[in-house]
Amino acid sequence: MIVITGATGALNGATVDHLLTLVPASEIAVAVRDISKAERFTDLGITVRHGDYADAATLPSAFEGADQLLLVSSSDPRADAVDLHRVAIDAAVAAGVGRILYTSHQGAGLDSPFNPARDHAATEQLLADSGVAWTSLRNGFYAHSLNWLLGDWRQTGVITIPVDGPMSWTSRDDEAEAAAIILASGGGFDGPTTLTASAAPTFAEITAIASEVAGSDVELRVVGDADWMALQIAQGTPEFVAGFTLGTFQAAAQGRFAGVDPLLAELLSREPHTVRDALEAPAEH
Ligand SMILES: NC(=O)c1ccc[n+]([C@@H]2O[C@H](COP(=O)([O-])OP(=O)(O)OC[C@H]3O[C@@H](n4cnc5c(N)ncnc54)[C@H](OP(=O)(O)O)[C@@H]3O)[C@@H](O)[C@H]2O)c1
Repeated sequence: MIVITGATGALNGATVDHLLTLVPASEIAVAVRDISKAERFTDLGITVRHGDYADAATLPSAFEGADQLLLVSSSDPRADAVDLHRVAIDAAVAAGVGRILYTSHQGAGLDSPFNPARDHAATEQLLADSGVAWTSLRNGFYAHSLNWLLGDWRQTGVITIPVDGPMSWTSRDDEAEAAAIILASGGGFDGPTTLTASAAPTFAEITAIASEVAGSDVELRVVGDADWMALQIAQGTPEFVAGFTLGTFQAAAQGRFAGVDPLLAELLSREPHTVRDALEAPAEH
């Protein structure tokens, strides 16, 4: 039995869809916070269970009988993510789960300026200490995030960033498909497993791609941390959100998202989607 949390979300919901092409529905269960959001899985013949990391009492039955358990990382930037993940990992160990898989991030590191990277590193340590076989799916940054991160360049012709750095912008659906292939393979991927696109362009290079997509010149302005924060706040972005995003740019400038790994292309048996694909298809959020 493969149990998947976060299936009402975009990433693990897509992972379930891809997994259904590889294993029978009877071998899959989803553990969700809100069962009323999971009707489509019942319709597909998938068992739906209630499971919320913030309510430990729900987890023993949610994780019961799991040979593999895919844990989603918390999506709440204000929650104590590591504490939630600790509760989930402890419950998985108590339930006798065979292998825990976890949706981590490329560049997981306790000293990263990118907040989630610190939570992912701490969670990977919990997994390493759990005594259970584990796989950390270190996903590249979602490429579709460029559609908000780059601002309104389609109207203004200008991309304004605090600092430049390379990032391995990766399609969320490619990551979901790879996760399904890894789950269906039944093991063999131990510890940190990096899933990225095949290139890590800088924002200067992305600006050149944006110019080609727009069919007109787009200008890149690299304004520094303080001016960029001031601009964001003047435009109405909450300071907490702007600070979070600034950490992303700072981590990129430190090269923390610069690596590319051939594993994703190997698993998919095709080239992963690219930044150009993301800029040409701006509808996803
Ligand atoms: N690689 C990247 O660039 C990137 C970008 C953004 C986020 N992420 C991380 O990747 C994860 C998956 O991404 P996504 O796009 O699928 O996000 P999403 O659409 O927001 O889905 C998050 C899922 O996590 C579930 N969840 C949240 N808190 C939970 C808890 N306490 N217990 C159990 N389930 C909980 C949510 O349940 P509900 O449906 O009930 O809310 C939802 O199903 C995110 O949670 C985040 O940690 C990665």
